[in-house]
Amino acid sequence: MKRLLVTGGLGFIGSHFIRLVLTARQAYEVINFDAVTYAGNPANCADLKTHPRYRFIKGNICDSAAVEEAAAGGVDAIVNFAAETHVDRSILDPDAFIRTDVLGAHVLLEAVRKYNIGRFVQVSTDEVYGDISSGASTEDDALRPRSPYSASKAGADLQVLAYWATYETPVIITRGSNTYGPFQYPEKLIPLFITNLIDGKAVPVYGDGMQQRDWIHVDDHARGVLHALEHGEPGNVYNIAGGNTRTNLEITQLLVESLGRSMETHVTHVLDREGHDRRYALDCTKARGLGWQPEVAFEEGLRNTIEWYRTNENWWRPLRSGEFKEYFKRQYLKRLISA
Ligand code: TYD
Repeated sequence: MKRLLVTGGLGFIGSHFIRLVLTARQAYEVINFDAVTYAGNPANCADLKTHPRYRFIKGNICDSAAVEEAAAGGVDAIVNFAAETHVDRSILDPDAFIRTDVLGAHVLLEAVRKYNIGRFVQVSTDEVYGDISSGASTEDDALRPRSPYSASKAGADLQVLAYWATYETPVIITRGSNTYGPFQYPEKLIPLFITNLIDGKAVPVYGDGMQQRDWIHVDDHARGVLHALEHGEPGNVYNIAGGNTRTNLEITQLLVESLGRSMETHVTHVLDREGHDRRYALDCTKARGLGWQPEVAFEEGLRNTIEWYRTNENWWRPLRSGEFKEYFKRQYLKRLISA
């Protein structure tokens, strides 16, 4: 039996990863170590609570005593999904990003070193490469992050690679593209727009909406991380993308039409995000060389995701009250007025 310590396993991608591991691998047990922040939601793993190979520990990756306690009892690998991830929040409040994404990664690396843990997988993002106007970023490209969020993730990536160079800590980094699917907190583009449209509200498109992202279904992303854990070479970075490049306006149109609304009445162009990256694109030749490839067709994945939000209002409605309302006001009120 192999024991995985998965950090941030109550989050969007982490919870899908844990479910994948427990169903596709009989020889793994999983400890889910999660701080239960606004986006780390116990409901994301409610179905796993009684699973015999699953255990939950509430803890913050910045708390070295708690991390050491979780890591001490014979852990074979740590997979780090724990992070503050929303660019707009990082522009409003960078502090939490530096703490969790940079210092948290450092605490985990120290635990890996202290307890001789066999693998450390850092789940990173295409945003560390920054905006690229053409072509696709390869793993060797320079990091040019441009938001407090992406700079925090890049800081972690650099630490991770430094531990490989300095201590031969057996690290692997995955850099995923924009991810969508069930259980995504409704502040990100796709779930925000779906839930707004279900409620008949307009959706806020930043600027001209011609920014491009490459979308990957969360199941493909989770499979990519597992594949890198099992087949990746220590000291290496692997890009993971779905190969579905779309402008934000194309995504908006798909969602608006699928939910029976119209572009004229249900889309508002609002003030653009500060320092908004126009385009990300990843070259995934290296991950494909390991034998991984995305399997979910975009239109079908998006249809299923819409259906999931339609039939799981009991999951997202509570999230759109309280803290979310406060954030929504801070984030969008000024944008709407100034647009
Ligand atoms: P997001 O889901 O926040 O992911 P990221 O910024 O990490 O790529 O945003 C995806 C794209 O959608 C990005 O170009 C910003 C844009 N966007 C909007 O136009 N309106 C919104 O309300 C949000 C949240 C995002």
